Amino acid sequence: MLNKDKINEIKQAVNIVDIIGESVALTKAGRNYLGLCPFHGEKTPSFNVVEDKQFYHCFGCGKSGDVFKFIEDYRGISFVDSVQVVAEKAGFQLDIQPSFSPQEKKEHPHQVLYDIHSEATKFYHALLMTTKMGEPARAYLHQRGLTDEVMKTFQIGLAPSEPNYLFQGLSQKFSEADLLNSGLFNAADNNQVYDAFQGRIIFPLTDEYGRVVAFSGRIWQAADLANKQIAKYKNSRSTAIFNKSYELYHLDKAKATIKKSREVYLMEGFMDVIAAHRAGIDNAVASMGTALTREQVQHLSKFCKKVVLTYDGDAAGQAATVKALEELKDFQVEIVTLPDNMDPDEFIARHSEEALEQVLTKSRISDVEFLIHYLKPENPDNLQMQIEFVDQIAPIIAKTASITAQNSYIYKVADLLSDFDYGQVEQAVNTVRLQHRQERSQQVYQQSSPTSPLQELPRQSKITSLMRTENHLLYRMKEHAYILNNYRLREDFYFITPELQTLFLLLKKHGEISSYDLAQQDEAVQRAWYRVLEEKLPIEIGENELEELEERRHRELLKKESQAKTRLIREHSHIGNDDLALDELAQLIAQKRKME
Ligand code: UTP
Ligand code: MN
Repeated sequence: MLNKDKINEIKQAVNIVDIIGESVALTKAGRNYLGLCPFHGEKTPSFNVVEDKQFYHCFGCGKSGDVFKFIEDYRGISFVDSVQVVAEKAGFQLDIQPSFSPQEKKEHPHQVLYDIHSEATKFYHALLMTTKMGEPARAYLHQRGLTDEVMKTFQIGLAPSEPNYLFQGLSQKFSEADLLNSGLFNAADNNQVYDAFQGRIIFPLTDEYGRVVAFSGRIWQAADLANKQIAKYKNSRSTAIFNKSYELYHLDKAKATIKKSREVYLMEGFMDVIAAHRAGIDNAVASMGTALTREQVQHLSKFCKKVVLTYDGDAAGQAATVKALEELKDFQVEIVTLPDNMDPDEFIARHSEEALEQVLTKSRISDVEFLIHYLKPENPDNLQMQIEFVDQIAPIIAKTASITAQNSYIYKVADLLSDFDYGQVEQAVNTVRLQHRQERSQQVYQQSSPTSPLQELPRQSKITSLMRTENHLLYRMKEHAYILNNYRLREDFYFITPELQTLFLLLKKHGEISSYDLAQQDEAVQRAWYRVLEEKLPIEIGENELEELEERRHRELLKKESQAKTRLIREHSHIGNDDLALDELAQLIAQKRKME
Protein backbone atom coordinates (compact mmCIF):
# COMPACT_ATOMS: atom_id res chain seq x y z
CA MET A 1 0.00 0.00 0.00
CA LEU A 2 0.94 3.64 -0.26
CA ASN A 3 2.78 5.05 2.68
CA LYS A 4 5.16 7.94 3.06
CA ASP A 5 8.26 5.81 2.77
CA LYS A 6 7.03 4.18 -0.39
CA ILE A 7 6.17 7.59 -1.85
CA ASN A 8 9.64 8.83 -1.01
CA GLU A 9 11.19 5.76 -2.52
CA ILE A 10 9.27 6.34 -5.75
CA LYS A 11 10.33 9.96 -5.82
CA GLN A 12 13.96 8.97 -5.36
CA ALA A 13 13.73 6.52 -8.23
CA VAL A 14 12.85 9.10 -10.88
CA ASN A 15 14.33 12.31 -12.12
CA ILE A 16 11.84 15.15 -12.36
CA VAL A 17 13.69 16.46 -15.44
CA ASP A 18 12.91 13.25 -17.34
CA ILE A 19 9.30 13.13 -16.26
CA ILE A 20 8.53 16.76 -17.03
CA GLY A 21 10.65 16.43 -20.17
CA GLU A 22 8.10 13.96 -21.51
CA SER A 23 5.52 16.72 -21.69
CA VAL A 24 7.48 19.95 -21.83
CA ALA A 25 10.42 20.73 -24.10
CA LEU A 26 13.24 21.58 -21.71
CA THR A 27 16.63 23.04 -22.41
CA LYS A 28 19.48 23.24 -19.99
CA ALA A 29 20.06 26.74 -18.69
CA GLY A 30 22.85 26.87 -16.16
CA ARG A 31 22.10 24.41 -13.39
CA ASN A 32 18.39 24.32 -14.19
CA TYR A 33 16.20 23.37 -17.11
CA LEU A 34 14.00 25.89 -18.81
CA GLY A 35 10.85 25.51 -20.90
CA LEU A 36 7.51 27.01 -21.81
CA CYS A 37 5.15 26.74 -18.87
CA PRO A 38 2.40 24.19 -19.53
CA PHE A 39 0.13 25.89 -17.01
CA HIS A 40 -0.25 29.29 -18.60
CA GLY A 41 0.12 30.52 -22.17
CA GLU A 42 3.52 32.03 -22.75
CA LYS A 43 5.97 32.53 -25.55
CA THR A 44 9.13 33.19 -23.58
CA PRO A 45 10.12 30.36 -21.30
CA SER A 46 9.85 31.03 -17.58
CA PHE A 47 9.22 27.49 -16.41
CA ASN A 48 12.21 26.22 -14.41
CA VAL A 49 12.98 22.68 -13.40
CA VAL A 50 15.55 22.52 -10.64
CA GLU A 51 17.25 19.18 -10.97
CA ASP A 52 19.31 19.08 -7.80
CA LYS A 53 16.28 19.85 -5.66
CA GLN A 54 13.81 17.96 -7.82
CA PHE A 55 11.12 20.57 -8.18
CA TYR A 56 9.78 23.02 -10.73
CA HIS A 57 8.78 26.64 -10.53
CA CYS A 58 7.23 28.99 -13.05
CA PHE A 59 8.26 32.62 -12.70
CA GLY A 60 5.35 33.58 -14.93
CA CYS A 61 2.40 32.09 -13.08
CA GLY A 62 4.02 31.08 -9.82
CA LYS A 63 3.14 27.39 -10.00
CA SER A 64 5.60 25.09 -8.35
CA GLY A 65 5.84 21.61 -7.00
CA ASP A 66 7.57 18.27 -7.07
CA VAL A 67 7.18 15.47 -9.55
CA PHE A 68 3.84 14.31 -8.11
CA LYS A 69 2.41 17.79 -8.09
CA PHE A 70 3.41 18.21 -11.71
CA ILE A 71 1.59 15.05 -12.79
CA GLU A 72 -1.35 16.02 -10.61
CA ASP A 73 -1.76 19.43 -12.21
CA TYR A 74 -0.70 18.52 -15.72
CA ARG A 75 -3.10 15.61 -15.99
CA GLY A 76 -5.70 16.97 -13.61
CA ILE A 77 -5.64 13.88 -11.40
CA SER A 78 -5.47 13.25 -7.66
CA PHE A 79 -2.30 13.00 -5.62
CA VAL A 80 -2.69 9.25 -5.17
CA ASP A 81 -3.20 8.75 -8.89
CA SER A 82 -0.16 10.88 -9.62
CA VAL A 83 1.92 8.70 -7.31
CA GLN A 84 0.71 5.70 -9.24
CA VAL A 85 1.61 7.28 -12.58
CA VAL A 86 5.11 8.11 -11.40
CA ALA A 87 5.47 4.68 -9.79
CA GLU A 88 4.64 3.03 -13.08
CA LYS A 89 7.25 5.11 -14.86
CA ALA A 90 9.79 4.09 -12.24
CA GLY A 91 8.89 0.44 -12.66
CA PHE A 92 7.21 -0.05 -9.28
CA GLN A 93 4.25 -2.34 -8.92
CA LEU A 94 1.71 -0.72 -6.63
CA ASP A 95 -1.13 -2.85 -5.46
CA ILE A 96 -3.63 -0.05 -5.19
CA GLN A 97 -6.17 -2.11 -7.09
CA PRO A 98 -5.66 -5.55 -5.63
CA SER A 99 -8.45 -7.00 -7.75
CA PHE A 100 -6.00 -7.21 -10.67
CA SER A 101 -3.02 -9.44 -10.74
CA PRO A 102 0.10 -7.62 -11.94
CA GLN A 103 0.20 -9.57 -15.21
CA GLU A 104 -3.37 -8.72 -16.05
CA LYS A 105 -2.74 -5.11 -15.24
CA LYS A 106 0.27 -4.85 -17.48
CA GLU A 107 -1.43 -6.34 -20.49
CA HIS A 108 -3.14 -3.66 -22.53
CA PRO A 109 -6.81 -4.48 -23.12
CA HIS A 110 -6.23 -4.16 -26.86
CA GLN A 111 -2.88 -5.87 -26.94
CA VAL A 112 -4.08 -8.35 -29.53
CA LEU A 113 -4.89 -5.53 -31.95
CA TYR A 114 -1.38 -4.15 -31.57
CA ASP A 115 0.00 -7.65 -32.14
CA ILE A 116 -2.05 -8.07 -35.31
CA HIS A 117 -0.74 -4.76 -36.65
CA SER A 118 2.79 -5.61 -35.76
CA GLU A 119 2.56 -8.96 -37.56
CA ALA A 120 0.86 -7.38 -40.57
CA THR A 121 3.56 -4.71 -40.80
CA LYS A 122 6.28 -7.35 -40.95
CA PHE A 123 4.29 -9.35 -43.41
CA TYR A 124 3.70 -6.47 -45.84
CA HIS A 125 7.24 -5.16 -45.47
CA ALA A 126 8.81 -8.55 -46.20
CA LEU A 127 6.59 -8.91 -49.23
CA LEU A 128 7.83 -5.61 -50.63
CA MET A 129 11.49 -6.04 -49.82
CA THR A 130 12.20 -9.70 -50.41
CA THR A 131 9.80 -11.17 -52.97
CA LYS A 132 9.43 -11.25 -56.71
CA MET A 133 5.93 -9.91 -56.25
CA GLY A 134 7.40 -6.88 -54.49
CA GLU A 135 9.86 -5.95 -57.21
CA PRO A 136 7.68 -3.72 -59.42
CA ALA A 137 6.31 -1.91 -56.35
CA ARG A 138 9.82 -1.34 -55.11
CA ALA A 139 10.78 -0.04 -58.54
CA TYR A 140 7.88 2.42 -58.29
CA LEU A 141 9.19 3.65 -54.94
CA HIS A 142 12.78 3.84 -56.22
CA GLN A 143 11.58 5.93 -59.10
CA ARG A 144 9.96 8.26 -56.55
CA GLY A 145 13.36 8.64 -54.87
CA LEU A 146 12.97 6.24 -51.95
CA THR A 147 15.95 4.01 -51.19
CA ASP A 148 15.65 0.58 -49.58
CA GLU A 149 17.01 2.19 -46.44
CA VAL A 150 14.12 4.68 -46.38
CA MET A 151 11.58 1.90 -47.04
CA LYS A 152 13.01 0.10 -44.05
CA THR A 153 12.96 3.17 -41.81
CA PHE A 154 9.30 3.80 -42.57
CA GLN A 155 8.49 0.07 -42.69
CA ILE A 156 6.78 0.54 -46.03
CA GLY A 157 5.13 -2.59 -47.36
CA LEU A 158 3.05 -4.05 -50.12
CA ALA A 159 -0.47 -5.46 -50.03
CA PRO A 160 -0.74 -7.71 -53.08
CA SER A 161 -3.68 -7.59 -55.46
CA GLU A 162 -5.23 -10.68 -53.97
CA PRO A 163 -8.42 -11.06 -51.96
CA ASN A 164 -7.14 -12.51 -48.68
CA TYR A 165 -3.41 -12.82 -48.70
CA LEU A 166 -2.94 -11.24 -45.27
CA PHE A 167 -5.89 -13.08 -43.78
CA GLN A 168 -4.35 -16.42 -44.71
CA GLY A 169 -1.07 -15.31 -43.24
CA LEU A 170 -2.56 -14.28 -39.89
CA SER A 171 -5.52 -16.60 -39.35
CA GLN A 172 -3.31 -19.32 -37.86
CA LYS A 173 -2.19 -16.97 -35.13
CA PHE A 174 -5.26 -14.90 -34.29
CA SER A 175 -8.95 -15.56 -33.88
CA GLU A 176 -11.28 -14.41 -36.63
CA ALA A 177 -13.08 -12.12 -34.21
CA ASP A 178 -9.85 -10.34 -33.25
CA LEU A 179 -8.83 -10.05 -36.89
CA LEU A 180 -12.15 -8.48 -37.79
CA ASN A 181 -11.78 -6.01 -34.92
CA SER A 182 -8.40 -4.91 -36.24
CA GLY A 183 -9.94 -3.03 -39.14
CA LEU A 184 -7.67 -4.80 -41.60
CA PHE A 185 -10.34 -7.15 -42.90
CA ASN A 186 -13.92 -7.07 -44.09
CA ALA A 187 -16.42 -9.87 -43.74
CA ALA A 188 -18.65 -10.38 -46.76
CA ASP A 189 -22.20 -11.78 -46.76
CA ASN A 190 -20.92 -15.19 -47.83
CA ASN A 191 -18.94 -15.36 -44.56
CA GLN A 192 -15.72 -14.92 -46.49
CA VAL A 193 -13.14 -12.57 -45.01
CA TYR A 194 -11.29 -10.19 -47.33
CA ASP A 195 -8.20 -8.07 -46.84
CA ALA A 196 -9.11 -4.39 -46.57
CA PHE A 197 -5.95 -3.45 -48.47
CA GLN A 198 -5.39 -4.93 -51.89
CA GLY A 199 -3.00 -3.79 -54.59
CA ARG A 200 -1.63 -0.93 -52.52
CA ILE A 201 1.69 0.23 -51.18
CA ILE A 202 1.36 0.20 -47.42
CA PHE A 203 2.38 2.97 -45.03
CA PRO A 204 2.13 1.81 -41.39
CA LEU A 205 0.69 4.50 -39.11
CA THR A 206 2.11 4.48 -35.61
CA ASP A 207 0.92 6.10 -32.41
CA GLU A 208 3.29 8.32 -30.47
CA TYR A 209 4.78 5.28 -28.72
CA GLY A 210 5.73 3.64 -32.00
CA ARG A 211 3.01 1.00 -32.01
CA VAL A 212 1.46 0.44 -35.43
CA VAL A 213 -2.24 1.23 -35.06
CA ALA A 214 -3.43 1.44 -38.67
CA PHE A 215 -2.32 1.47 -42.30
CA SER A 216 -2.69 3.71 -45.27
CA GLY A 217 -2.37 2.22 -48.74
CA ARG A 218 -1.50 4.04 -51.94
CA ILE A 219 -2.36 2.88 -55.45
CA TRP A 220 0.66 2.46 -57.68
CA GLN A 221 -0.19 0.16 -60.60
CA ALA A 222 -0.75 1.80 -64.00
CA ALA A 223 -4.34 0.58 -64.31
CA ASP A 224 -5.29 1.95 -60.90
CA LEU A 225 -3.51 5.24 -61.48
CA ALA A 226 -5.46 5.72 -64.68
CA ASN A 227 -8.77 5.02 -62.94
CA LYS A 228 -10.14 8.27 -61.49
CA GLN A 229 -12.74 6.35 -59.46
CA ILE A 230 -10.18 4.87 -57.10
CA ALA A 231 -9.00 6.94 -54.14
CA LYS A 232 -5.25 7.56 -54.20
CA TYR A 233 -4.87 6.71 -50.52
CA LYS A 234 -7.07 4.51 -48.41
CA ASN A 235 -6.82 4.39 -44.62
CA SER A 236 -7.81 1.78 -42.06
CA ARG A 237 -11.21 2.45 -40.59
CA SER A 238 -11.44 3.65 -37.00
CA THR A 239 -10.87 0.95 -34.42
CA ALA A 240 -10.35 0.68 -30.70
CA ILE A 241 -6.71 1.65 -31.24
CA PHE A 242 -6.99 4.07 -34.16
CA ASN A 243 -8.55 7.49 -34.00
CA LYS A 244 -7.61 9.23 -37.23
CA SER A 245 -8.43 12.66 -35.83
CA TYR A 246 -5.85 12.27 -33.09
CA GLU A 247 -2.88 10.59 -34.71
CA LEU A 248 -0.11 12.36 -36.57
CA TYR A 249 2.08 10.47 -39.00
CA HIS A 250 5.67 9.93 -37.83
CA LEU A 251 5.15 11.53 -34.40
CA ASP A 252 6.81 8.60 -32.64
CA LYS A 253 10.10 9.11 -34.43
CA ALA A 254 9.80 12.88 -34.64
CA LYS A 255 9.10 13.58 -30.98
CA ALA A 256 12.69 13.48 -29.74
CA THR A 257 13.80 16.01 -32.36
CA ILE A 258 10.68 18.08 -31.77
CA LYS A 259 11.54 18.41 -28.12
CA LYS A 260 15.13 19.27 -28.84
CA SER A 261 14.41 21.81 -31.56
CA ARG A 262 11.19 22.98 -29.89
CA GLU A 263 9.38 23.05 -33.18
CA VAL A 264 7.54 20.71 -35.46
CA TYR A 265 6.98 20.80 -39.21
CA LEU A 266 3.39 20.06 -40.01
CA MET A 267 2.88 18.63 -43.48
CA GLU A 268 -0.02 17.15 -45.41
CA GLY A 269 1.16 13.77 -46.54
CA PHE A 270 3.25 10.72 -45.83
CA MET A 271 5.49 11.33 -48.82
CA ASP A 272 6.19 14.86 -47.61
CA VAL A 273 7.35 13.67 -44.20
CA ILE A 274 9.51 11.08 -45.92
CA ALA A 275 10.96 13.80 -48.17
CA ALA A 276 11.81 15.87 -45.08
CA HIS A 277 13.52 12.84 -43.55
CA ARG A 278 15.56 12.42 -46.71
CA ALA A 279 16.56 16.07 -46.41
CA GLY A 280 17.81 15.38 -42.86
CA ILE A 281 14.78 16.87 -41.11
CA ASP A 282 13.18 14.46 -38.69
CA ASN A 283 10.86 16.72 -36.72
CA ALA A 284 8.13 16.58 -39.34
CA VAL A 285 4.70 15.01 -38.94
CA ALA A 286 1.71 14.81 -41.25
CA SER A 287 -1.88 15.58 -40.45
CA MET A 288 -2.77 13.02 -43.16
CA GLY A 289 -4.95 15.14 -45.36
CA THR A 290 -5.60 18.83 -45.25
CA ALA A 291 -7.91 19.31 -42.31
CA LEU A 292 -5.92 19.67 -39.12
CA THR A 293 -8.18 18.67 -36.25
CA ARG A 294 -8.41 20.15 -32.78
CA GLU A 295 -7.46 16.77 -31.34
CA GLN A 296 -4.28 16.71 -33.39
CA VAL A 297 -3.43 20.21 -32.19
CA GLN A 298 -3.99 19.12 -28.62
CA HIS A 299 -1.78 16.12 -29.25
CA LEU A 300 1.01 18.29 -30.66
CA SER A 301 0.84 20.68 -27.72
CA LYS A 302 2.22 17.88 -25.55
CA PHE A 303 5.52 18.21 -27.35
CA CYS A 304 6.10 21.84 -28.32
CA LYS A 305 4.51 25.21 -28.82
CA LYS A 306 5.83 26.09 -32.25
CA VAL A 307 4.62 24.79 -35.58
CA VAL A 308 6.20 25.32 -38.96
CA LEU A 309 3.29 24.89 -41.33
CA THR A 310 4.46 23.23 -44.50
CA TYR A 311 1.32 22.47 -46.42
CA ASP A 312 1.23 22.05 -50.17
CA GLY A 313 1.90 25.13 -52.26
CA ASP A 314 -1.33 24.71 -54.21
CA ALA A 315 -4.59 26.53 -53.54
CA ALA A 316 -5.97 23.71 -51.38
CA GLY A 317 -2.82 23.71 -49.30
CA GLN A 318 -2.94 27.48 -48.81
CA ALA A 319 -6.60 27.39 -47.82
CA ALA A 320 -5.75 24.58 -45.40
CA THR A 321 -2.99 26.75 -43.95
CA VAL A 322 -5.51 29.48 -43.10
CA LYS A 323 -7.75 26.89 -41.40
CA ALA A 324 -4.79 25.45 -39.52
CA LEU A 325 -3.81 28.93 -38.31
CA GLU A 326 -7.19 29.20 -36.63
CA GLU A 327 -6.65 25.92 -34.81
CA LEU A 328 -3.08 26.83 -33.87
CA LYS A 329 -3.98 29.99 -31.95
CA ASP A 330 -1.94 28.99 -28.91
CA PHE A 331 1.14 28.13 -30.94
CA GLN A 332 3.85 30.21 -32.41
CA VAL A 333 3.52 29.59 -36.13
CA GLU A 334 5.84 30.03 -39.09
CA ILE A 335 4.96 29.13 -42.61
CA VAL A 336 6.97 27.65 -45.42
CA THR A 337 5.42 28.29 -48.79
CA LEU A 338 6.84 26.19 -51.55
CA PRO A 339 7.03 27.64 -55.07
CA ASP A 340 4.95 26.57 -58.06
CA ASN A 341 2.19 24.80 -56.16
CA MET A 342 4.63 22.10 -55.05
CA ASP A 343 4.52 19.94 -51.96
CA PRO A 344 7.78 18.97 -50.18
CA ASP A 345 7.91 15.65 -52.01
CA GLU A 346 7.57 17.29 -55.42
CA PHE A 347 10.13 19.90 -54.41
CA ILE A 348 12.72 17.29 -53.49
CA ALA A 349 12.07 15.46 -56.78
CA ARG A 350 12.43 18.65 -58.82
CA HIS A 351 15.43 20.00 -56.91
CA SER A 352 17.49 18.12 -54.32
CA GLU A 353 17.63 17.03 -50.71
CA GLU A 354 19.88 19.99 -49.90
CA ALA A 355 17.50 22.41 -51.60
CA LEU A 356 14.58 21.08 -49.57
CA GLU A 357 16.58 21.38 -46.37
CA GLN A 358 17.38 24.99 -47.26
CA VAL A 359 13.85 25.99 -48.09
CA LEU A 360 12.40 24.34 -44.97
CA THR A 361 14.86 25.96 -42.60
CA LYS A 362 15.45 29.29 -44.33
CA SER A 363 12.37 30.36 -46.30
CA ARG A 364 9.89 30.87 -43.55
CA ILE A 365 7.51 33.72 -43.11
CA SER A 366 5.40 34.71 -40.13
CA ASP A 367 1.71 33.93 -39.92
CA VAL A 368 0.85 37.62 -40.42
CA GLU A 369 3.02 37.86 -43.51
CA PHE A 370 1.34 34.78 -44.89
CA LEU A 371 -2.11 36.25 -44.29
CA ILE A 372 -1.12 39.53 -45.91
CA HIS A 373 -0.23 37.66 -49.07
CA TYR A 374 -3.15 35.32 -48.84
CA LEU A 375 -5.76 38.03 -48.31
CA LYS A 376 -4.35 40.75 -50.56
CA PRO A 377 -6.76 41.95 -53.21
CA GLU A 378 -6.50 40.42 -56.62
CA ASN A 379 -6.81 43.87 -58.07
CA PRO A 380 -4.77 46.36 -55.98
CA ASP A 381 -6.39 49.32 -57.75
CA ASN A 382 -9.92 48.44 -56.80
CA LEU A 383 -10.75 50.73 -53.89
CA GLN A 384 -13.54 48.56 -52.45
CA MET A 385 -11.24 45.53 -52.41
CA GLN A 386 -8.50 47.56 -50.76
CA ILE A 387 -10.82 48.69 -47.99
CA GLU A 388 -12.05 45.16 -47.35
CA PHE A 389 -8.49 43.94 -47.21
CA VAL A 390 -7.45 46.60 -44.69
CA ASP A 391 -10.49 45.74 -42.57
CA GLN A 392 -9.48 42.09 -42.54
CA ILE A 393 -5.79 42.54 -41.97
CA ALA A 394 -5.81 45.39 -39.40
CA PRO A 395 -7.03 43.22 -36.49
CA ILE A 396 -4.47 40.58 -37.38
CA ILE A 397 -1.64 43.09 -37.35
CA ALA A 398 -2.96 44.67 -34.16
CA LYS A 399 -2.49 41.38 -32.32
CA THR A 400 1.25 41.31 -33.01
CA ALA A 401 3.17 41.90 -29.84
CA SER A 402 6.30 43.38 -31.37
CA ILE A 403 6.06 47.01 -32.46
CA THR A 404 8.89 46.59 -34.97
CA ALA A 405 7.12 43.68 -36.60
CA GLN A 406 3.92 45.68 -36.61
CA ASN A 407 5.58 48.56 -38.43
CA SER A 408 7.00 46.33 -41.09
CA TYR A 409 3.61 44.70 -41.66
CA ILE A 410 1.99 48.08 -42.01
CA TYR A 411 4.60 49.01 -44.61
CA LYS A 412 4.00 45.78 -46.49
CA VAL A 413 0.26 46.36 -46.60
CA ALA A 414 0.64 49.97 -47.67
CA ASP A 415 3.07 48.87 -50.39
CA LEU A 416 0.52 46.50 -51.82
CA LEU A 417 -2.23 49.11 -52.13
CA SER A 418 -2.47 52.06 -54.46
CA ASP A 419 -4.88 54.12 -52.35
CA PHE A 420 -3.45 53.62 -48.85
CA ASP A 421 -0.28 55.05 -47.42
CA TYR A 422 1.53 54.02 -44.25
CA GLY A 423 -0.30 56.50 -42.06
CA GLN A 424 -3.72 55.33 -43.16
CA VAL A 425 -2.99 51.65 -42.56
CA GLU A 426 -1.42 52.51 -39.22
CA GLN A 427 -4.53 54.37 -38.22
CA ALA A 428 -6.70 51.39 -39.08
CA VAL A 429 -4.48 49.16 -36.93
CA ASN A 430 -4.51 51.61 -34.02
CA THR A 431 -8.27 51.92 -34.09
CA VAL A 432 -8.64 48.16 -33.76
CA ARG A 433 -6.07 48.00 -31.00
CA LEU A 434 -7.92 50.64 -29.05
CA GLN A 435 -11.17 48.73 -29.42
CA HIS A 436 -9.50 45.54 -28.21
CA ARG A 437 -8.06 47.30 -25.21
CA GLN A 438 -11.44 48.68 -24.22
CA GLU A 439 -13.06 45.30 -24.61
CA ARG A 440 -10.34 43.72 -22.55
CA SER A 441 -10.61 46.16 -19.68
CA GLN A 442 -14.36 45.63 -19.66
CA GLN A 443 -13.83 41.91 -19.51
CA VAL A 444 -11.46 42.25 -16.58
CA TYR A 445 -14.02 44.44 -14.92
CA GLN A 446 -16.69 41.80 -15.43
CA GLN A 447 -14.35 39.22 -13.97
CA SER A 448 -14.81 36.96 -16.97
CA SER A 449 -11.54 35.83 -18.47
CA PRO A 450 -11.80 34.30 -21.90
CA THR A 451 -8.55 32.64 -22.90
CA SER A 452 -6.82 34.81 -25.43
CA PRO A 453 -3.25 34.78 -26.68
CA LEU A 454 -2.75 37.73 -24.38
CA GLN A 455 -3.69 35.77 -21.31
CA GLU A 456 -3.39 37.68 -18.10
CA LEU A 457 -0.84 36.24 -15.76
CA PRO A 458 -2.07 35.23 -12.35
CA ARG A 459 -0.92 37.89 -9.96
CA GLN A 460 2.05 36.79 -7.97
CA SER A 461 2.18 37.81 -4.38
CA LYS A 462 5.13 40.05 -3.71
CA ILE A 463 7.67 38.61 -1.36
CA THR A 464 8.33 40.98 1.49
CA SER A 465 11.72 41.14 3.07
CA LEU A 466 10.24 39.68 6.24
CA MET A 467 9.16 36.65 4.25
CA ARG A 468 12.57 36.40 2.65
CA THR A 469 14.20 36.40 6.06
CA GLU A 470 11.84 33.75 7.31
CA ASN A 471 12.36 31.66 4.18
CA HIS A 472 16.03 31.72 4.88
CA LEU A 473 15.50 30.62 8.45
CA LEU A 474 13.18 27.76 7.53
CA TYR A 475 15.62 26.63 4.89
CA ARG A 476 18.31 26.29 7.52
CA MET A 477 15.97 24.32 9.78
CA LYS A 478 15.14 21.97 6.95
CA GLU A 479 18.80 21.43 6.11
CA HIS A 480 20.15 21.06 9.64
CA ALA A 481 18.43 18.92 12.21
CA TYR A 482 20.24 20.58 15.10
CA ILE A 483 18.89 23.99 14.16
CA LEU A 484 15.39 22.61 13.93
CA ASN A 485 15.89 21.06 17.35
CA ASN A 486 16.97 24.36 18.86
CA TYR A 487 13.80 26.00 17.66
CA ARG A 488 11.71 23.05 18.78
CA LEU A 489 12.85 23.82 22.29
CA ARG A 490 11.87 27.47 22.06
CA GLU A 491 8.19 27.18 22.78
CA ASP A 492 7.43 30.84 22.19
CA PHE A 493 8.94 30.86 18.71
CA TYR A 494 6.67 31.12 15.71
CA PHE A 495 6.90 32.28 12.11
CA ILE A 496 5.06 35.48 11.35
CA THR A 497 4.26 34.41 7.79
CA PRO A 498 1.32 32.03 8.29
CA GLU A 499 2.29 29.63 5.48
CA LEU A 500 5.77 29.29 6.89
CA GLN A 501 4.36 28.68 10.35
CA THR A 502 2.28 25.80 8.95
CA LEU A 503 5.39 24.37 7.34
CA PHE A 504 7.37 24.86 10.54
CA LEU A 505 4.78 22.89 12.51
CA LEU A 506 4.95 20.06 9.98
CA LEU A 507 8.71 20.10 10.08
CA LYS A 508 8.71 20.00 13.88
CA LYS A 509 6.34 17.07 13.87
CA HIS A 510 7.95 14.88 11.21
CA GLY A 511 11.49 16.17 10.93
CA GLU A 512 10.95 16.57 7.19
CA ILE A 513 8.23 17.53 4.77
CA SER A 514 7.14 14.66 2.59
CA SER A 515 5.32 14.89 -0.71
CA TYR A 516 2.40 13.25 0.98
CA ASP A 517 2.12 15.78 3.80
CA LEU A 518 2.62 18.66 1.44
CA ALA A 519 -0.12 17.44 -0.87
CA GLN A 520 -2.58 17.82 2.03
CA GLN A 521 -1.83 21.54 2.35
CA ASP A 522 -3.31 24.59 0.67
CA GLU A 523 -1.86 25.74 -2.61
CA ALA A 524 -0.38 28.79 -0.82
CA VAL A 525 1.48 26.60 1.67
CA GLN A 526 2.77 24.38 -1.11
CA ARG A 527 4.06 27.36 -3.02
CA ALA A 528 5.67 28.76 0.09
CA TRP A 529 7.54 25.50 0.53
CA TYR A 530 9.02 25.65 -2.94
CA ARG A 531 9.99 29.23 -2.36
CA VAL A 532 11.97 28.01 0.63
CA LEU A 533 13.61 25.33 -1.47
CA GLU A 534 14.56 27.96 -4.01
CA GLU A 535 16.77 29.79 -1.53
CA LYS A 536 20.27 29.83 -2.91
CA LEU A 537 22.43 29.59 0.17
CA PRO A 538 25.91 28.32 0.76
CA ILE A 539 26.02 24.91 2.44
CA GLU A 540 28.15 26.30 5.24
CA ILE A 541 26.31 28.31 7.84
CA GLY A 542 27.86 31.68 8.53
CA GLU A 543 29.24 32.36 11.97
CA ASN A 544 26.46 34.66 13.19
CA GLU A 545 24.01 33.83 10.48
CA LEU A 546 21.17 32.73 12.70
CA GLU A 547 21.55 35.59 15.15
CA GLU A 548 21.54 38.05 12.27
CA LEU A 549 18.47 36.41 10.81
CA GLU A 550 16.62 36.72 14.07
CA GLU A 551 17.64 40.30 14.42
CA ARG A 552 16.54 41.12 10.93
CA ARG A 553 13.26 39.35 11.58
CA HIS A 554 12.77 41.35 14.72
CA ARG A 555 13.47 44.62 12.91
CA GLU A 556 11.10 43.70 10.12
CA LEU A 557 8.48 42.86 12.67
CA LEU A 558 8.87 46.22 14.41
CA LYS A 559 8.73 47.96 11.07
CA LYS A 560 5.54 46.17 10.27
CA GLU A 561 4.04 47.19 13.59
CA SER A 562 5.06 50.79 13.20
CA GLN A 563 3.57 50.87 9.74
CA ALA A 564 0.34 49.61 11.20
CA LYS A 565 0.55 52.27 13.91
CA THR A 566 1.15 55.03 11.39
CA ARG A 567 -1.91 53.88 9.52
CA LEU A 568 -3.92 53.90 12.74
CA ILE A 569 -2.77 57.39 13.64
CA ARG A 570 -3.73 58.63 10.20
CA GLU A 571 -7.18 57.11 10.61
CA HIS A 572 -7.69 58.52 14.07
CA SER A 573 -6.73 62.06 13.13
CA HIS A 574 -8.74 61.76 9.96
CA ILE A 575 -11.93 61.21 11.93
CA GLY A 576 -10.96 63.86 14.50
CA ASN A 577 -9.85 61.46 17.22
CA ASP A 578 -6.90 63.63 18.18
CA ASP A 579 -6.33 62.22 21.68
CA LEU A 580 -6.06 58.72 20.45
CA ALA A 581 -3.89 59.78 17.58
CA LEU A 582 -1.47 61.49 19.97
CA ASP A 583 -1.38 58.44 22.19
CA GLU A 584 -0.50 56.19 19.32
CA LEU A 585 2.07 58.67 18.10
CA ALA A 586 3.85 58.60 21.44
CA GLN A 587 4.01 54.85 21.29
CA LEU A 588 5.29 54.99 17.78
CA ILE A 589 8.09 57.34 18.68
CA ALA A 590 9.10 55.10 21.55
CA GLN A 591 9.16 52.15 19.25
CA LYS A 592 11.23 53.94 16.61
CA ARG A 593 13.80 54.74 19.30
CA LYS A 594 14.02 51.05 20.13
CA MET A 595 14.64 50.25 16.49
CA GLU A 596 17.59 52.63 16.18
P1 UTP B 1 -1.99 14.47 -51.34
O1 UTP B 1 -3.00 14.26 -52.41
O2 UTP B 1 -1.30 15.81 -51.25
O3 UTP B 1 -0.97 13.32 -51.47
O4 UTP B 1 -2.66 14.12 -49.98
P2 UTP B 1 0.61 13.39 -51.46
O5 UTP B 1 1.10 13.54 -50.08
O6 UTP B 1 1.08 14.37 -52.45
O7 UTP B 1 0.93 11.91 -51.89
P3 UTP B 1 1.67 11.44 -53.20
O8 UTP B 1 2.91 12.26 -53.26
O9 UTP B 1 0.75 11.71 -54.32
O10 UTP B 1 1.89 9.99 -52.95
C1 UTP B 1 -2.04 14.39 -48.74
C2 UTP B 1 -2.46 13.37 -47.74
O11 UTP B 1 -3.87 13.30 -47.68
C3 UTP B 1 -4.31 12.00 -47.42
C4 UTP B 1 -3.05 11.16 -47.27
O12 UTP B 1 -2.70 11.10 -45.91
C5 UTP B 1 -2.03 11.95 -48.05
O13 UTP B 1 -0.69 11.68 -47.63
N1 UTP B 1 -5.13 11.47 -48.52
C6 UTP B 1 -4.96 11.91 -49.79
C7 UTP B 1 -6.05 10.49 -48.26
O14 UTP B 1 -6.22 10.07 -47.12
N2 UTP B 1 -6.79 9.97 -49.30
C8 UTP B 1 -6.60 10.38 -50.57
O15 UTP B 1 -7.28 9.85 -51.48
C9 UTP B 1 -5.68 11.39 -50.82
MN1 MN C 1 2.93 14.48 -53.30
